[in-house]
Amino acid sequence: LSEDQLLTLADYEERARAILPSQMFSVLFGSDGASGFGGNTSNLAAFRSTRLRPRVLAGVGKRNLSTTVLGHPIDFPVMLAPVGFQQRVHPEGEIASARAARVARTVFTLSTGSNYSIEEVASGAGGSLWFQLYFFRDRALNERLVQRAEEAGYQALVLTVDHLGRSKEMEIRYDFDQFNKRIVHTLQRERIYRNLTTMDMPGVPTRGPESFRGAWEWDLNWSDVDWLRARTRLPLVIKGIQTAEDAEICRERGVDAVVVSNHGGHGSPDAKGTLETLHEVVDAVRSEVEVYMDGGVRQGSDVLKALALGARAVFVGRANLWGLAIDGEEGVQRVLAVLRSELDLNMSLCGVTDVEHVIPSLVAPFWARMADGNSP
Ligand SMILES: Cc1cc2nc3c(=O)[nH]c(=O)nc-3n(C[C@H](O)[C@H](O)[C@H](O)COP(=O)(O)O)c2cc1C
Repeated sequence: LSEDQLLTLADYEERARAILPSQMFSVLFGSDGASGFGGNTSNLAAFRSTRLRPRVLAGVGKRNLSTTVLGHPIDFPVMLAPVGFQQRVHPEGEIASARAARVARTVFTLSTGSNYSIEEVASGAGGSLWFQLYFFRDRALNERLVQRAEEAGYQALVLTVDHLGRSKEMEIRYDFDQFNKRIVHTLQRERIYRNLTTMDMPGVPTRGPESFRGAWEWDLNWSDVDWLRARTRLPLVIKGIQTAEDAEICRERGVDAVVVSNHGGHGSPDAKGTLETLHEVVDAVRSEVEVYMDGGVRQGSDVLKALALGARAVFVGRANLWGLAIDGEEGVQRVLAVLRSELDLNMSLCGVTDVEHVIPSLVAPFWARMADGNSP
């Protein structure tokens, strides 16, 4: 495929698969149906089996795609999810992705585990930045990271609460150990754990992936959310909510927003598709908490489906990296442009004029069709 033949995100995925080392592609992304990545397969299936119910004669000559997240305007309801160590696929890593988000006038979320630091991304890219925290046992380390994000002008703090384990099957099948060792040689030495190596603190976990993951708080619980809430003036977003029950607790605890997410299917292989979970979370928070979702968004119509089921906006993870791997900042810009124009087209095809007013009856989710006694 030449550049001008990259028309859909499926084309970007295919190209990325062709240019990245095959082990890297399967470890980072897993394919639809790949062993151990059942959550990703469910995410994709939920979108495929939820169909649109297009309305007509709705006067769609002018369409509004812009909205707000936590009070900040974005040009269309697609944001970039935190994706760790982006230099694995392109030397400019997070700087390139954040610049692309700025050009597209949307949010870029920086992972704790990044190859460009909180400060480097703020000064090298700017735009609307959110910081994603992996919560460490060392509370002083968490506090310092949050403080740095605040000082550098990040607009929200995203606490990731899922993805706490990895199966033996995954370790062996995908040979994470050898993969991590090999990958370290492809990164610029000074960029490994960039957020941490720049810190002058004792015990900061910088000795490779195992020390990084090994330093996480595996006992994370709701009192840690309260602890964090009390230590930041930034809005708090909880990423990884997958049930109404947990969404309800977020609401009670005054969390500002939640992301319905299963870490792109890197978590439990038996997790529901996130699109399926969305409506119960939306119901549970009773409009008091903003709800976003991610997992399996591959085309503009997917965004519309998520909005119909109550999401205020969606995030993309894999698609960001595919664009980045192919053509750096330009590639990510193009991925975002594809999603934007597909969303716009689908709005006009479905009689939708405003992303803030997408009604639930726009979709016929398979579970509703099942309840009606119709086959999926
Ligand atoms: C390669 C890769 C690395 C990721 N790294 C992180 C991370 O550092 N922090 C985090 O909260 N989520 C991380 N995620 C999960 C994404 O933020 C997001 O939830 C997921 O990719 C969305 O699904 P999608 O890839 O189908 O769009 C990662 C996902 C991928 C594919």
